Amino acid sequence: MTQINFKHHFIPSPPLQQHITNNFNQKQRTKDNNDSLTLLLLHGTGGNEDDLIPVGQMLSSSASLLSPRGKVLENGMPRFFKRLSEGVFDMEDLKFRTKELADFVKEASNTYSFNLNKTIAVGFSNGANIAASLLLSYPETIKGAILFRAMVPFIPDSLPVLSGKQVLLSAGTFDPIVSKSQIEGLLKILQKSDADVTLKWQQSGHNLTQKDILDSKHWLSGRLL
Ligand code: MLT
Repeated sequence: MTQINFKHHFIPSPPLQQHITNNFNQKQRTKDNNDSLTLLLLHGTGGNEDDLIPVGQMLSSSASLLSPRGKVLENGMPRFFKRLSEGVFDMEDLKFRTKELADFVKEASNTYSFNLNKTIAVGFSNGANIAASLLLSYPETIKGAILFRAMVPFIPDSLPVLSGKQVLLSAGTFDPIVSKSQIEGLLKILQKSDADVTLKWQQSGHNLTQKDILDSKHWLSGRLL
């Protein structure tokens, strides 16, 4: 397994923070964190580990936040995997980077004592695409995902079993990067894999809007696991 080798932020949930401050014992910390939600925040192209922290805080005031920086640079812009052109992915790199991210998330859950079964990935654009890839390839690393402006990362040779996984697809009606057929394709793959999927169309382009946050917050509050 790789080390914790992503530059990242981990912001403990307020109850966990309290225990750290009060120097409570590890057993108590582990128990409390096992009960609380963690959001895995995955930024878009050109972003970094700071970008989605405010989004995570708006989605849940009680979740822990784990926010890594993508390790691939495209003209100096961080991403989570290489692409050949817009929307055309380097499949070999996607496979490698998805495994690397899965290892990081597993390792981080040990280091920071959070529960993978209470971890929801929140990804935007390139971050949503690697989150979808993580769900399809290593479903044991997350309980579900909120995918803002995602596309089909790859077509699996055989469908994974995603029963019990919860996914929100938040798509832009006027998105010039992600076509309607991409969204429908991803929806179909997730549904055929038995995930519990909700699709929300936003009156927007590729950009994230206030309505994305409101809908996601509402979706998440109905699923606080
Ligand atoms: C990607 O490369 O993941 C997609 O084209 C979205 C983007 O980052 O623009």
